[in-house]
Amino acid sequence: KVVAVIMVGGPTKGTRFRPLSLNIPKPLFPLAGQPMVHHPISACKRIPNLAQIFLIGFYEEREFALYVSAISNELKVPVRYLKEDKPHGSAGGLYSFRDLIMEDSPSHIFLLNCDVCCSFPLPEMLDAHKQYGGIGTLLVIKVSAESASQFGELVADPVTNELLHYTEKPETFVSDRINCGVYVFTPNIFAAIQNVSTQRKDRANLRRVSSFEALQPVTRNLPSDFVRLDQDILSPLAGKKQLYTYETLDFWEQIKTPGMSLKCSGLYLSQFKITSPNLLANGDGVKAPTIAGDVYIHPSAKIHPMAKIGPNVSISANARIGAGARLISCIILDGVEIKENAVVIHSIVGWKSSIGTWSRVQGQGDYNAKLGITILGEAVTVEDEVVVVNSIVLPNKTLNISVQEEIIL
Ligand code: GDD
Repeated sequence: KVVAVIMVGGPTKGTRFRPLSLNIPKPLFPLAGQPMVHHPISACKRIPNLAQIFLIGFYEEREFALYVSAISNELKVPVRYLKEDKPHGSAGGLYSFRDLIMEDSPSHIFLLNCDVCCSFPLPEMLDAHKQYGGIGTLLVIKVSAESASQFGELVADPVTNELLHYTEKPETFVSDRINCGVYVFTPNIFAAIQNVSTQRKDRANLRRVSSFEALQPVTRNLPSDFVRLDQDILSPLAGKKQLYTYETLDFWEQIKTPGMSLKCSGLYLSQFKITSPNLLANGDGVKAPTIAGDVYIHPSAKIHPMAKIGPNVSISANARIGAGARLISCIILDGVEIKENAVVIHSIVGWKSSIGTWSRVQGQGDYNAKLGITILGEAVTVEDEVVVVNSIVLPNKTLNISVQEEIIL
């Protein structure tokens, strides 16, 4: 049997995701009309002999309860949310629930970061891992040398694929191959985590009786049950024939900011063409709007036939889009109203917001820049004929004059 664990983090982790994380845990924010965590979960469905999926985080349990029961029924695989009492780090979190994870005596455990967007080639990784042996295999991808330093950089043996060297977010360039945050392990990973925390305890004891502290400046303040997968496990085990790599040639992105969520929504929409074409709007029918490219429209949304939607547009429940409206590259959240002839481009429009007639809400479409898209928080009102460009508007604001490159608090 195989189990999968998805690390969802907690409320203190989503700060770069504001103002959207003020309303919803980041893992439940919709990309391509489905909660962010839904994409790795549905990818897990392709793993042979999958027994259970666990989400581990430190959000309140009730925030995930509804989603977890709905998705368990839909996939017919038990999905459980396990709440940490405090953050234990990416490996410590896994370790703290080892008894539950090992309940079905799985031979392999997948571990996935919830904030990455990729095609999750999980069955392929498992096959590769079985050939390599060792305690784990990491998904890796080649990125540009300039962007590599935001991630874990690694060197792998080009023939055996063994992980030879690993450095988390290094200051000087090491390699353009990076850690995608998707792993498969044998249960021996728990012994490796246990070792790190035992070493920490021993050091703490030593410190009490000697001046050993000065020798351990980096880790000295970490509690023994806080273990990071990258620095504490991957770095020390590299080059010991324990860890291997599987390189993906497909798409991969990390989702830390609202801008990247808009980009990833588009990537998942285009993946739907292969995995779930039924979820894409096709523009058929007399009352259908004009659809351009990949678009998701929730069945309860009301779109006027004279609106034009797409590409990369995702429209959530109960949204209303008026005649002559033009939507390109945007995420429209629940209950939004976009009135006649309004234009929304490269933007995220928060829950229950309203955009007046002939208004324009737009960004330049630079997904990495702080003000590269426009974001409206919950219940923002943009009055008629107002233009909002490259701005972030916090919840409950009313805009009656045009703004550009502004953060409206
Ligand atoms: N449950 C739980 N508890 N989850 C956690 C905790 C914790 O204490 N700490 C982090 N996470 C979750 C985050 O929500 C995220 O999904 C994942 O674990 C990794 O988060 P970080 O440890 O903050 O690392 P990162 O996202 O900056 O970088 C990691 O992922 C990159 C790929 O996206 C590293 O592994 C990089 O090497 C890697 O390139």
